[in-house]
Order: sequence, then C-alpha cells, then structure tokens
Amino acid sequence: MIDNNFSSRPTDSLVIALAKGRILKQTLPLFEQIGIVPTEDVAHSRKLMIATTNPKIKLLIVRTTDAPTYVQYGAADLGVSGRDTLIEHGYTGIFEMLDLGIARCKLMTAVLESVAHLPEKRLTVATKYVNSARKHFAEQGVHADIIKLYGSMELAPIVGLADCIVDLVDTGNTLKANGLKPLDTVLEVSTRLIVNRVSLKMKTDLITQLVADLRTVVSSRE
Ligand code: PRP
Ligand code: MG
Repeated sequence: MIDNNFSSRPTDSLVIALAKGRILKQTLPLFEQIGIVPTEDVAHSRKLMIATTNPKIKLLIVRTTDAPTYVQYGAADLGVSGRDTLIEHGYTGIFEMLDLGIARCKLMTAVLESVAHLPEKRLTVATKYVNSARKHFAEQGVHADIIKLYGSMELAPIVGLADCIVDLVDTGNTLKANGLKPLDTVLEVSTRLIVNRVSLKMKTDLITQLVADLRTVVSSRE
C-alpha cells in the first residue's frame, strides 16, 4: 500500500490533474472564470506541470485514463475526469465533488448497420470500457466475452473481431463513417471534479471554496 506522504506537502496549495484533449479544452474556460489561468499555452506547451495565475494552484496535464490514479495516490489533490473513466477506475481513494456538465456524451453499444439486433448467443464485445460493458451485459443476462482494446474500437465489428462494441458516442460521426449504428445506452457521461479523500480532510477550506466557486460557474451555465 502506498502511503500518501502529505506531511511534507504544503497544505495551503492545490494540485489539480487535468485530462488532455476535449476535457482540458472545456475545463479551462470554467477555471478562467474563477481566476485560474495557466501561465503558459497548455495546448502547445510540452510542459506537464503548469503554474497558474492563482499562486496556490498548479495543474498536471495527464492522460485521460490516468487522472483518477493521480488523485487516488494524492499526487494531485483534485482531478477532472469523465464519468466513463471514473467507473473503470473504481473510485478508490476518491470522492466525486461536482458534475461540471461538460464533454457530455454517451457510452453505447454499437453494431454493424446491417445487424438488426444483437444475436442471441454468447457475444464477443470489443471495448476500452471493460467494467461498464461487463456490468451492462450481466444486467441484461447476456453472456459476453470482452476483448479489451485501447482505441479505434469501431474497427472490431468490421474485421470480425467482435459482434459489437461499447464506446463513447458524441456526434455519432465516427460510427456512421465506419458503417456502424448505436443500439443501447450503457452510461450517460459528463466530466466530474474529483478529490483525494485525504486532501479533502487536510485542505478542507481551500477545496470547499474551489468547489463552491466552480459550482456557481457551472450553475450559471445551465
Ligand atoms: C472517441 C470515441 C469514438 C468517438 C466518438 O474516439 O472512442 O470513437 O470519439 O465521437 P463522435 O461520436 O463525435 O464521432 P477518439 O477519437 O477519442 O479516439 P480513440 O477511441 O481511438 O481513443
Ligand atoms: Mg474512438
């Protein structure tokens, strides 16, 4: 078990892990509204730990699937991560504080357009979202053999690797471009603010204030 070494860390500052890509792009405008602006161009910088205009707050730029891990072990006090990723991670050592309401999409099953419905047999399912997929098919009473992929899931039914995929659908363009269609919704996804459980105890005031400020910004956008 790795110990969170908080004794040597300042309690008057916060480290926030931000997932690269769409989440980062949509989170920065929210942060800007509460006075947290990166001191360099995050999209183009190769730097992964970035100071902000708030001297108490630093950002870590991490891979999407790694954001909960940084928060779990206390390497970051807070993190911004999709609900899809959090469910795969399992929320160990983490509390979810706020739905930021950004990067909304759905985790869905999808099949080739020519397939009317899922075959009533043991299914082969290709996905990056192993836990969500397993739970979904178990709830349906369907036996599913899961093949873990890390991206480009849409290829799997085309090349005969799987009967179906479980993947994120936003505009639906990727499914369409690959001759696939969505079937069932597995999960409604949006981006969440998460916190390390120990950080929340040690830095209650700072974190509570940040969450309250962000909540105000998020509510004003609804
Ligand atoms: C994501 C997701 C879908 C696509 C959904 O893939 O896995 O493929 O975006 O978006 P759409 O419905 O608007 O087309 P991404 O491009 O992030 O690549 P990856 O799956 O290879 O990681
Ligand atoms: Mg994809």
